[in-house]
Amino acid sequence: MSDEKLYIVLMGLPARGKSTLAMRLRDAFRKDGISTRIFNNGKLRRIYLPLDETARSEFYSAENSAAVELRKGFARMNMERAKAYLRNSGQIAILDATNAGRERRATIEKYLNDHSLFFIECINDDEDILNLSIREKIKLPEFSHIKDKAATEFLKRIDYYRMIYIPLKVERNYIRIDSLQNMIIEEKHSDAIPFYDRLRDYLVTDEVKNLFLIRHTETEYNLMNRIGGDPPLTEKGKAQATALGLFFKKKKLSYIFTSKKMRTIDTAKVICEMQDNCRIIPLKEFDEIKAGICERMTYGDIEKNMPHVFKKRGTNKYHYVYPDGESYETMKPRIIQGVKKAFFLNKRADNIMIVGHQAVNRMILSHFLYRREDDVPYIYIPQDRFYHIVSTQDKKLFELKRYD
Ligand code: F6P
Repeated sequence: MSDEKLYIVLMGLPARGKSTLAMRLRDAFRKDGISTRIFNNGKLRRIYLPLDETARSEFYSAENSAAVELRKGFARMNMERAKAYLRNSGQIAILDATNAGRERRATIEKYLNDHSLFFIECINDDEDILNLSIREKIKLPEFSHIKDKAATEFLKRIDYYRMIYIPLKVERNYIRIDSLQNMIIEEKHSDAIPFYDRLRDYLVTDEVKNLFLIRHTETEYNLMNRIGGDPPLTEKGKAQATALGLFFKKKKLSYIFTSKKMRTIDTAKVICEMQDNCRIIPLKEFDEIKAGICERMTYGDIEKNMPHVFKKRGTNKYHYVYPDGESYETMKPRIIQGVKKAFFLNKRADNIMIVGHQAVNRMILSHFLYRREDDVPYIYIPQDRFYHIVSTQDKKLFELKRYD
């Protein structure tokens, strides 16, 4: 067991980000010159069985003995393939499946006993993310013939897995990870695991190949210096959105994440329309800083009618909490949560776009580019330019670019 070969076995309910994680790990290891391959049970199922059979939830019931045998067969097939891969030139085999029950994992441990074995359990119970993930999943060809019932069937499938689900505990080596936060919840390793430090590092690192961080284009409130609210775009704002759309036409965007506010959605709509296959996902986490009692006021009104608010905020902008509203500091957790959600949903796509607001974009930028807290509320967020951010293991890039 001292050789440098490793089985990584994923585990978790459906729609918990296992496949995304598998791909992330594979890409990271390959970049380091370590030959890595994914063995996915669902993929075999979709190749060998008619899709209308496997889309129905009953296929995943523990009572359906014929289907249980079929699923065991695919698991076996992948174990054999993984074993053969490591016997030859492969160094890491990633087995991607739910592996929810202890019995299945015991079989894996028994059969894959020629090299180190490491389990990773993906946990994520964020309702919102789950619903969004399911909405995306049911767009796959597998569900095309049961369109209306697809979401219910998928939820039932999850329930069937939940019935046999036993978290990792007795296994010798494992990590239990919050797959939305990229945070380790628990780890145990009884054996020396090859590539362990690297694996751990890849698990917790937020990587982004290309993040295009855009501020919504001009609104009627911007013209008046009025804050908050839910104003529409001006004619100039619409023209700016068109210019953005044309600029990004050649870059493939699968999703554009926005806030729930009209100005970000309307900017994104124009960009999206010029893409081949793009969807807008509004997240409340990206809503602009809540100005509480100052919502919809101009900065001039605040200075005149609430001089204490104006003064206090001016002297300590990062920490100042608007009465009944937020500060930069208090909105930070929800913005980070939004970034995590966007990354989770965007899967491994190369390009990710967020159309946000002035304060929101400052916060997002400071998540990737270290800034002193006091400086964050003053980061320049213009409407005629956007930020391009690359943050990977071997590359960091921040550039402010014009789009017209
Ligand atoms: O003015 C536009 C705006 O997005 C407001 O809605 C928001 O209150 C403000 O920017 C945030 O910027 P600052 O923290 O500089 O007031």
